[in-house]
Amino acid sequence: MSNAVTDSSVTTAAPLRAGVVGLGWAGEQHMEGYLSAPEVELVAIAGMESDKLEILGERYGVAGRYPDLESMLADADLDVVSIATPTALHAPMSIAALDHGVHVLTEKPMAESADSARAMVEAARRNDRVLEVTFNKRRAAEITALAQLVADGVLGEVYYAKAGWVRRRGIPGLGSWFTQREMAGGGPLMDIGIHALDMALHVMGEPVPVKVSGATYAEFGPRGLGGSRGAGSNKWSAKPAGGTESFEVEDLGTAFVRMDSGATLLLEASWAQWVEKDSLYLSVYGTDGGAELHLPTALGQPSKLVVHTDVNDMPAVITPVLGPRGDHADCVRDFVLAVRGDNWDDHRGTVGLTRAEIIDACYSSADQAAEVSIA
Ligand SMILES: NC(=O)c1ccc[n+]([C@@H]2O[C@H](COP(=O)([O-])OP(=O)(O)OC[C@H]3O[C@@H](n4cnc5c(N)ncnc54)[C@H](O)[C@@H]3O)[C@@H](O)[C@H]2O)c1
Repeated sequence: MSNAVTDSSVTTAAPLRAGVVGLGWAGEQHMEGYLSAPEVELVAIAGMESDKLEILGERYGVAGRYPDLESMLADADLDVVSIATPTALHAPMSIAALDHGVHVLTEKPMAESADSARAMVEAARRNDRVLEVTFNKRRAAEITALAQLVADGVLGEVYYAKAGWVRRRGIPGLGSWFTQREMAGGGPLMDIGIHALDMALHVMGEPVPVKVSGATYAEFGPRGLGGSRGAGSNKWSAKPAGGTESFEVEDLGTAFVRMDSGATLLLEASWAQWVEKDSLYLSVYGTDGGAELHLPTALGQPSKLVVHTDVNDMPAVITPVLGPRGDHADCVRDFVLAVRGDNWDDHRGTVGLTRAEIIDACYSSADQAAEVSIA
């Protein structure tokens, strides 16, 4: 590791040496994020596809190209690393990097289980390093505005929220790691429900979850339906190359989460469902007003945020004027700022752990067909 950052009280202008492991869509977002972040040099990337390693290395001007995290850590003298690999690898890779003295930004979901997420937090504390999770959907301008409205008390006391991400058909890759329990940890609750959950908790002001009642269904995947590929067809368009056809996770998950304040959250996430169209939404209802938000589920779609309240005793619909839209690059920038800052104790991955505990409880409740407590 370079001496650009050696302890939490020292900041220097020396560029942070950044690496990214994972060459998929997510990994590329981190590469672009580091390239646009000030005082950071993207010096290394790693992944198993040797052709893509070369292509991305050339595209982003990265000289350090490695087949795995271990060789990158041993050779590249990193200060920070992004983990954008299949979910079950987030914990072992994050812990290896943290134990190597490198600050970590991992993709969502934080890990395939709350136990793994907890071990990551422990590693961040043990090594006194920053650990952050990429919750990029909350960077939408609409979420920033809504969180501010709630924090400022405009909606009064928020006691109920609904959040979800549902798809008509969008199971990511039959036979890929996404549909295998060991690698993914779960289906849409874990994959996209985590964004809806994060948005809701963030906007509600991080209430403490205490009980969860969840249910899961696998009605499309096991029948070879619901695949995201294949225009105009509901069927899987292709057999997986060298993979497995097994579908081991849910394709719809739903949950009711009770907070210690008495507030509740209704959560749903599906990769395939007979809905009219895909939807990513968050509604929050308070004593003085309610807000309903729809975010785009595909590039180019519009978003909509409205606040319902009374003005002068008249029902009113308010459409806030929004600031700039944010995404992955903001997560990377704030991670870099946290590493540059002097308050690493506030960045040990505990926000991601809370979400992992809720998702764990959803699956455990679904298995038991009963409400479960969050430890
Ligand atoms: N935040 C978001 O909006 C968002 C969007 C998509 C994916 N993700 C998350 O990002 C992660 C990656 O998703 P993806 O769609 O990019 O996956 P992907 O399957 O397209 O890419 C995974 C990458 O990990 C690499 N990899 C796998 N095992 C490895 C190993 N042992 N050593 C080194 N590299 C290894 C592969 O070579 C590949 O380049 C997942 O956790 C996913 O949930 C987040």
